[in-house]
Amino acid sequence: MVLAVKDEERMMTFSLFQQSAAFIQQRYPHPIQIVCILGSGMGDLAAHLENPVEIPYSDIPNFPESTTEGHCSALALGQLAQSGKHVAFLKGRFHFYEGYAMEKVVYPLRVLKMLGATQLLVTNAAGGVNPNFKAGDLMLIEDHLNMMGTNPLIGKNLNEFGPRFPDMSEAYTPRLRELALQTAMELNIPIQRGIYCAISGPSYETPAEIRMFRMLGADAIGMSTVPEVIAASHMGMQVVGISCITNAAAGVLPHHKLSHEEVLAAAEAVKAPFSRLIEAILERI
Ligand code: HPA
Repeated sequence: MVLAVKDEERMMTFSLFQQSAAFIQQRYPHPIQIVCILGSGMGDLAAHLENPVEIPYSDIPNFPESTTEGHCSALALGQLAQSGKHVAFLKGRFHFYEGYAMEKVVYPLRVLKMLGATQLLVTNAAGGVNPNFKAGDLMLIEDHLNMMGTNPLIGKNLNEFGPRFPDMSEAYTPRLRELALQTAMELNIPIQRGIYCAISGPSYETPAEIRMFRMLGADAIGMSTVPEVIAASHMGMQVVGISCITNAAAGVLPHHKLSHEEVLAAAEAVKAPFSRLIEAILERI
């Protein structure tokens, strides 16, 4: 009896995803192949789609309600110019620090998986923990440290999406990592490699915390990405991630205070090479 009630609950949850997916499919009736999540200040990297359809998040049933205004809260769907692949850009994400439950943070990705997506290209703005990194560097994410103190898979497992205890030993797909490095090399875009550490935010870290995370192996730090990558692994998706290093993390440079303005300005400054790299990777994966 208890089991039956739980099962019913699970099916109701799943039907919310189905409603969102059905709505998107009506507006864009093609199977999605790749999802690209765009980080802070990167919303317009989605500009080069053919036959684009843009849907504000607020129009999609059951999508989380955005706390940010403007054009960076929309799903952009369309085809890549060369390969014709169907791509979904999530322009703006739902952050844990905004107060969303983890299941909301990963909700859009799960809906897009239902629409066919098998690959994820995830981007973010991050602080450089590695002292050799400087603002404006790009970093291929090789692996992550989840320091958010939670996990998007906590709670009832949705068996439709994946197993209770998903493997994370190759969360960042080796083939796609290699492809991203190769692509950067061919385009002559310098790229670092390293470990991304996620914390909940919204306060930036203290210098003592950054020293600790460096000792633990972090090269970059940010407030996103890890929930989506865990959910993607759960759903058996292939993942490639790139951080834009927007600032030296706290304490790395003497007397340097961090601000969101600095983060946005640095992301803006590397937009051109970053978007060339992203487009080229999307065409090839
Ligand atoms: N810390 C955490 N998140 C960030 C940072 C940082 O220094 N820069 C951009 N996002």
